[in-house]
Amino acid sequence: MLFKLAILVSLLISLAAGDEYPGFIYNGFKSANLVLDGMAQFTANGLLQLTNETKTLNGHAFYPEPITFKNYSNGRAFSFSTTFVFAIHPVYPTLAGHGMAFVIAPTRGLPGARPSQYLGLFNESNNGNASNHVFAVELDTVLTGEFFDINDNHVGIDVNGLHSEISAPAGYYDDQTGDLKNLTLISNQRMQVWVDYNGEKKEINVSLAPFKSGKPITPLLSLSRDLSSVFKTNMFVGFSSSPGSMLTSHYVLGWSFKINGQAQEFLLSQLPKLPRIGPKERSMLLAVGLPLISISLMLAAVTGVVHLVQRKRRFAEVLEDWELEYGPQRFKYKDLYFATKGFRETELLGSGGFGRVYRGVLHNSKLEIAVKRISHESRQGMREFVAEIVSIGHLRHRNLVQLLGYCRRKGELLLVRPIERRAPTQEMVLVDWVFGFWNTGAILEAKDPKLGTDFVAEELELVLKLGLLCSHSEPAARPSMRQVVQYLEKDSPLPELSDLGISTSGLAFAHRKDFDGFVITNSSYMGPRVSTSIADSILSGGR
Ligand SMILES: *[C@@H]1O[C@H](CO)[C@@H](O)[C@H](O)[C@H]1NC(C)=O
Ligand SMILES: *[C@@H]1O[C@H](CO)[C@@H](O)[C@H](O)[C@H]1NC(C)=O
Ligand SMILES: *[C@@H]1O[C@H](CO)[C@@H](O)[C@H](O)[C@H]1NC(C)=O
Ligand SMILES: *[C@@H]1O[C@H](CO)[C@@H](O)[C@H](O)[C@H]1NC(C)=O
Ligand SMILES: *[C@@H]1O[C@H](CO)[C@@H](O)[C@H](O)[C@H]1NC(C)=O
Ligand SMILES: *[C@@H]1O[C@H](CO)[C@@H](O)[C@H](O)[C@H]1NC(C)=O
Repeated sequence: MLFKLAILVSLLISLAAGDEYPGFIYNGFKSANLVLDGMAQFTANGLLQLTNETKTLNGHAFYPEPITFKNYSNGRAFSFSTTFVFAIHPVYPTLAGHGMAFVIAPTRGLPGARPSQYLGLFNESNNGNASNHVFAVELDTVLTGEFFDINDNHVGIDVNGLHSEISAPAGYYDDQTGDLKNLTLISNQRMQVWVDYNGEKKEINVSLAPFKSGKPITPLLSLSRDLSSVFKTNMFVGFSSSPGSMLTSHYVLGWSFKINGQAQEFLLSQLPKLPRIGPKERSMLLAVGLPLISISLMLAAVTGVVHLVQRKRRFAEVLEDWELEYGPQRFKYKDLYFATKGFRETELLGSGGFGRVYRGVLHNSKLEIAVKRISHESRQGMREFVAEIVSIGHLRHRNLVQLLGYCRRKGELLLVRPIERRAPTQEMVLVDWVFGFWNTGAILEAKDPKLGTDFVAEELELVLKLGLLCSHSEPAARPSMRQVVQYLEKDSPLPELSDLGISTSGLAFAHRKDFDGFVITNSSYMGPRVSTSIADSILSGGR
């Protein structure tokens, strides 16, 4: 197999050798035999660097052997085809000079030629003189008025001088749409150029395209021109470049040439890589990126510290020594804060005279809770008040709102109770519910079904009515403890409810908003009366 391949390769080589017309291909310039002058050099990885960014000096690279460009017998220029891949890297992104050119010249090198706008091709005394016998395709990156340049980014065909025979802004015709697409020569992007001369049609085509996109069907430049008078029989082919004051690197990555035939295509994968854009980019990073990064880091650190301080302040609690024994009943403000989504308005269940009640879900236990915020300005009575709360927290009764615990902050006190999910009919206030039965004349229906039939109807009615009486929204209308005892002992008859403003309208029982949550009257903070008032209000809450 390997043997067969070797035969095939040698056959191809002999066929190529059998072609009498010269041609060559450089897939990169490692160990290339080109003749260099001026600033031109090969880089270690095989790039042909015509100029570098250090000096304003020409750089030339020529194929070492002369090439026969004309038929000896009839003096007509041969067809030729060449293609090359190049890239132009300017020190300053938008400023570069002056460009580079593919050149066919009678000498190997261009002695006497000037740099800058002369592109290392001509000088002020020989520019435009037909005795030069120089053909060039220029990639011109500076607008030079004296040579009638169209802009600072163009491709031109030059014959014996820098005033181009034809030129066009750098670009290519899209094969699909036919649209002209612009290219920027000094973009440090790899691009490919094709130059084809048809000796019979006496026509020169020049195309430019982005790297790897292939030769466009429609050339950028097409010039009818007989090159027979321009060429001498033997000519040298090569490249010329010349940076201006704007220092620029001009690179050739690969080059292919053929007389009377099509220039061979490159093995694109073998072409050398362009140098990474080095020191300038790094200095940009150091000059702009590093300060930006450090400022960002500093800002982040400051923001973090501010956040921590705010968080600490937000979750600060008041904890006194005497509270330590209430450990389990005491909630962390942080937990309540997150449970109620930061006491958000959407979580507000209601607001009473002394505080607002928020819905919440404890993070750990997923327990639904209601949190009442009560503001207290004085610490007077706080110890007793907290003691009451804690003791109520130990009570368990189905008609008693269970108190889970409390939390203290500077200026705020929070009470926590669970929210129980009940059937909607049971959501109503107990007082209203009993009142409803009384209103229809069937107050006994409100009895606890567990009693069964084991009760004295009169006594039950008395207790239920007394309950309603004690729940009167007007505190003055409620019986005193002595009266309650008298009613229960039947020493005194229970007044008719309707006489006390308890009418079918039920208005007297219109419970205050506070009943729905925790009711803590002002006196709550002041001393021992606290317990009854909390118990009262919790009971009248009906849960
Ligand atoms: C630029 O080219 C000159 C001439 O070939 C050479 O002496 C110099 O070292 C090069 N500088 C760089 C940075 O490549
Ligand atoms: C040179 O021109 C002569 C006369 O026109 C022709 O016969 C010959 O084939 C040409 N040679 C080449 C190499 O094209
Ligand atoms: C211009 O170049 C030619 C060679 O092409 C040379 O003989 C001549 O001296 C140069 N003139 C100047 C002014 O450099
Ligand atoms: C062109 O160059 C030749 C040879 O250098 C010289 O004799 C001739 O005078 C030049 N013509 C012009 C118009 O400068
Ligand atoms: C292409 O370049 C030409 C010449 O510089 C300019 O007039 C035109 O607006 C450019 N087109 C686009 C699409 O940039
Ligand atoms: C130049 O391009 C035109 C249009 O694509 C084509 O018809 C012609 O054959 C080309 N000539 C050369 C010398 O490639």
